Amino acid sequence: MPDRKTTHDRRPATVLAHSGRNHGENRYFVNPPVIHASTVLYDSVEAMQTRTQPYTYGRQGTPTSEALEAALNDLEGAAGTCLAPSGLAAISVALLSMLGADDHLLMIDTVYAPTRNVCETVLKRMGVETTYFDPAIGAGIADLIRDNTRLIFLEAPGSLTFEMVDLPAFVEVAKARGIRTAIDNTWATPLFYRPLENGIDLSIQAGTKYIVGHSDVMLGTVSANDATFPDLKATHRALGQHVGPDDVYLALRGLRTMAVRLERHMASALTIARWLQGRPEVVAVRHPALETDPGHAVWKRDFSGACGLFAFELQPSTPAKAVAAFLDTLELFGLGYSWGGFESLAILAKPGPNRTATRYDDTNPLIRVHIGLEDPADLIADLEAGFAAMASA
Ligand SMILES: Cc1ncc(COP(=O)(O)O)c(C=O)c1O
Repeated sequence: MPDRKTTHDRRPATVLAHSGRNHGENRYFVNPPVIHASTVLYDSVEAMQTRTQPYTYGRQGTPTSEALEAALNDLEGAAGTCLAPSGLAAISVALLSMLGADDHLLMIDTVYAPTRNVCETVLKRMGVETTYFDPAIGAGIADLIRDNTRLIFLEAPGSLTFEMVDLPAFVEVAKARGIRTAIDNTWATPLFYRPLENGIDLSIQAGTKYIVGHSDVMLGTVSANDATFPDLKATHRALGQHVGPDDVYLALRGLRTMAVRLERHMASALTIARWLQGRPEVVAVRHPALETDPGHAVWKRDFSGACGLFAFELQPSTPAKAVAAFLDTLELFGLGYSWGGFESLAILAKPGPNRTATRYDDTNPLIRVHIGLEDPADLIADLEAGFAAMASA
C-alpha cells in the first residue's frame, strides 16, 4: 500500500505545499484570492442579527486570512492560530491573553529584548509581576512558582547568545502545577521543533523571519492548543489585531518554500560556523548544532534542525575600531536587525545589559550573523575580507 497519510499525519514539507489551499468556487486556483475588505455585506437583517454568515467584518477574517491560519494550524498541529501585525504584536497578544492584574509571569532571561520591554512597561502597569529565570534552571523552575504564577514564557535558543533550554523539564513542572507555557519558537520554526505536540500551550512565530522569508513584510503568529485557543482568540479580537491581505498573501507565499529555504540556511550556516571555529580571530562560535556547543546534547535530543542564525565571539583584545572595520568591509552581509530573509546579515550584539537573572560578560565582541541563501563560498570570502580589514585597522 502506498504511504498516503491523512491531512493531520502529512509530513511538514507536504503540509507547506498543500494546506490552506482553496475550496468551493476558488478551488480552480492554486493560490487564495487577496480580498481587501473592511465592510462585509449581509444578505438580510436576520443574517445580521444572528451573525450566521462565515464573514462578518474585515477585521474578523476573510478567505485570505483563513488560508494562512489553516496552513499554520496544520503545520503547528494547532486548534487555532491568530495573526498579528508583527512578531512583537503576536508576543504581546499571547502575554495579554494569559495574564491579568496581580498575576505572576516567569520569563526566560535570554528573551528577545523587546519582549522584556513589554513586561517592564505594559504588564507592569497592569499589575503583572515578572520574574526572570536562568535558561539553565530546568526543573528548578518549580522553586520560582508562586500561587499567582500563570505563565512560563520560553525562547530556545536565545536569539543573541544561543543557549539551549531543557524544554521538557519546564513543560513537566508547568503541567504538574497547572501553569500555562508559551514559547517564542522563531529560531527553530515548527519545522525543527513542534511546541504544541511537546506540551507547550502557545507557539509564537515572528513570521517576519522565516515564514515570510523575503524581508518585505512584518507579521506574527500565535498558534494554540484546545485549552488556550478560546482565551487567545478573545484577547486577539478585543485588541483589534489584524493583518492586511497583501501581507497575509506574501506570508502564505513564503510559507510554501519555507522547508527548502531552511534546509539551505541550516547547511550553509553550519559550513560557515565550522569555518569560523578555525579562525584565529574567533574565540567561540555559539551555535547549538555544533558538537562543541554546551547546548548540543539538548538541541540534538529535542530539535530536528537549525536555522541560519548564530553568533561568534572575537578575541577580547579586538579593538572597537577593528570590529567596526570588519563589519563595514562586508559586502554580502548587510548590517541590519531582523533575520530569516534570503539575504545574509550581521550585527554587533551586546546582550549584557538585557540580563537580570544571569550575567553575560560582554568583554568579547559578539557578532551575530544570519546566513542567507547565497553560496557559502562567497560568504566565506566576504568574511575573509572582513578579517583582513580587521587586522589592518
Ligand atoms: C526572537 C525574536 N522574536 C520576536 C521578534 C519580533 O519580531 P518582529 O520584528 O516581527 O516584531 C524578533 C525580531 O527580531 C526576534 O528576533
